[in-house]
Amino acid sequence: MQNAAFGVSPMDTCNRCFLLSLAFLVIFFQDSGTNVFGFQGRELIETAEDEALDHSPHFTAGQGIYNVEELEDGDDWQMVQTKGNQFVVNGKPFYVNGFNTYWLMVFAADLSTRGKVSELFQQASSVGLTVCRTWAFNDGQWRALQKSPSVYDEDVFKALDFVVSEAKKYRIRLILSLVNNWDAYGGKAQYVKWGNASGLNLTSDDEFFSHPTLRSYYKSHVKTVLNRVNTFTNITYKDDPTIFAWELMNEPRCTSDPSGDTLQSWIAEMAAYVKSLDAKHLVEIGEEGFYGPSAPARTQFNPNSYATQVGTDFIRNHQALGVDFASVHIYADSWISQTISDAHLQFTKSWMEAHIEDAEKYLGMPVIFSEFGVSTKDTGYNSSYRDTLISTVYKTLLNSTKKGGSGAGSLLWQLFPDGTDYMDDGYAIVLSKSHSTANLISLHSTRLAIFNSRCSWHCRWGCRKKNSLETFLYHDYL
Ligand SMILES: *[C@@H]1O[C@H](CO)[C@@H](O)[C@H](O)[C@H]1NC(C)=O
Ligand SMILES: *[C@@H]1O[C@H](CO)[C@@H](O)[C@H](O)[C@H]1NC(C)=O
Ligand SMILES: *[C@@H]1O[C@H](CO)[C@@H](O)[C@H](O)[C@H]1NC(C)=O
Ligand SMILES: *[C@@H]1O[C@H](CO)[C@@H](O)[C@H](O)[C@H]1NC(C)=O
Ligand SMILES: *[C@@H]1O[C@H](CO)[C@@H](O)[C@H](O)[C@H]1NC(C)=O
Repeated sequence: MQNAAFGVSPMDTCNRCFLLSLAFLVIFFQDSGTNVFGFQGRELIETAEDEALDHSPHFTAGQGIYNVEELEDGDDWQMVQTKGNQFVVNGKPFYVNGFNTYWLMVFAADLSTRGKVSELFQQASSVGLTVCRTWAFNDGQWRALQKSPSVYDEDVFKALDFVVSEAKKYRIRLILSLVNNWDAYGGKAQYVKWGNASGLNLTSDDEFFSHPTLRSYYKSHVKTVLNRVNTFTNITYKDDPTIFAWELMNEPRCTSDPSGDTLQSWIAEMAAYVKSLDAKHLVEIGEEGFYGPSAPARTQFNPNSYATQVGTDFIRNHQALGVDFASVHIYADSWISQTISDAHLQFTKSWMEAHIEDAEKYLGMPVIFSEFGVSTKDTGYNSSYRDTLISTVYKTLLNSTKKGGSGAGSLLWQLFPDGTDYMDDGYAIVLSKSHSTANLISLHSTRLAIFNSRCSWHCRWGCRKKNSLETFLYHDYL
């Protein structure tokens, strides 16, 4: 759907590109005080930036505000890759403003709720969100994808096919998570139950990580999903650029081994295994980001002392071969206190900055804050606090992005379409009911689109400055 602000006449497009290009340069040079095109003052450029941002449209329920074709700039739909500490698609930067909705496959499995998947993607793309993280697992439960080891429900698999195919329609890429640490949708506990049922004598859910039989069950699931041929598109999952990345597990913890060795060995084996089947897609772990024994100086950034006991070790874990980018979650309300306070915002900022620094100094990879949000059930909650939290995350990321740092994106937990409140765990954001939040998200999308944009090539800048700009953007910046 077209809209006034991002209209499509060639003139408008060019004006917009001009502003975006200018704004891009401003953001990049704001801190360094330099500019390559010889402007004397910053005012001119900053005015242009403001103008570009003022043109960012406001969210109206059910009305698309981004022309996705235009944002993609006519490029083919290609795999996301990493280049140094950033994401790139087709050689141009890809900063991520995205969201989580974990239940898409289950909703798609029932024709009466399938439409909610499309509705969600439509609403998400209308505020410029480009990546969705969701579950590619449901083990042994109601509407299970994997009913028992290596036994799949074809109807549910078709539902996942639908989710992937529908995401592409709305130009949304997916991070697909392959198993849960927690019991919801089966998780590692279900794998242990299966092991027990087949005669193993397992004593702890953490044997999911260590027992060779359970490791082989997991690998078999990975192989089945990656080799799946989508019944809607005929594209094999492992060849589909709609998939942004594979996530090994949602929030792995192995409290039975606080040394971290057990989880480290699992990550190393599984990341390598995914890569052996699919060298094209990116892989991330799915961790919350707690610091462990390998980095005692960093444990001061953990939200509490228990965090060092859960068997994860952010820096070491992410050094495993095959892991392409870092994942971190941010939950001050669940880790520090369920009573909201300014300390939550301070924690959010320092937690993010610490991980961005690690990603730059020790890992040389991008980092995505792949879950963050606040529950409406928290003491002291109000919607303006939620907006403040979200903008704290966005600002902290932009601070990194401006400098070409590792802060590559964030995914809200979590975005719901209308009429799915009964699934809400307290964290759901429904755009049509949260106009200020929708506008905040939309503004951030616009800012990232400025960074990601290469449309300047086709416009005034391109005509005269193409070569120097190209060198500048892709040589120095990336
Ligand atoms: C199962 O393992 C526990 C200890 O891990 C042991 O005490 C028990 O005897 C074992 N049971 C069987 C049936 O092997
Ligand atoms: C596995 O079976 C053993 C023996 O029946 C039992 O002691 C143990 O609690 C079971 N473990 C799980 C995780 O169900
Ligand atoms: C997928 O392949 C089948 C069999 O070759 C073909 O009939 C169908 O039209 C294809 N569908 C798409 C979306 O390409
Ligand atoms: C919203 O909540 C925050 C944190 O509890 C509080 O500081 C602020 O005063 C509240 N604002 C309104 C408008 O109630
Ligand atoms: C931006 O990051 C630098 C460290 O790289 C920090 O000193 C500064 O306070 C940050 N600014 C904001 C606005 O977050």
